[in-house]
Amino acid sequence: NRLMLINGPNLNLLGTREPGIYGSHTLQDVVAEVKHVTDDFGYDLEDYQSNHEGAMVDKIQEAGRTCSGIILNAAAYTHTSIAIRDAIASIPVPVIEVHISNIHTREEFRHHSMLASVCKAQIVGLGIKGYRYAALALLEK
Ligand code: DQA
Repeated sequence: NRLMLINGPNLNLLGTREPGIYGSHTLQDVVAEVKHVTDDFGYDLEDYQSNHEGAMVDKIQEAGRTCSGIILNAAAYTHTSIAIRDAIASIPVPVIEVHISNIHTREEFRHHSMLASVCKAQIVGLGIKGYRYAALALLEK
């Protein structure tokens, strides 16, 4: 019983990166937030961050074999990556797409997600709480 949390490029810099947009919470805070939920449900949490597209594809494939759900903030790859989209489409496990900011109210190039149509749901604009809601959505029966 395990969930996978995957964060993409530049999210290792959360807390110091454009705090006006992404807030002052760190990636460690994000992981702690999700871990509270998985602990409550008796699930394990594996967390992974990468700045590399192919590494994220590898992790999604792995999670497809080892986890029962994925919480994914693919960051900028959301808007560009057919490879990540195809990886999601290739696994039997539900993926919830999370964005800290509301991508739909920002620059035009952020409005389109390559991933949304192969994900179970998209949560945007709720800050790091969005990750917690994603975990609840994957775990509540
Ligand atoms: C983001 C939004 C993306 O457009 C951006 O490239 C990110 C973070 C978010 O969490 O709001 O790196 O995914």
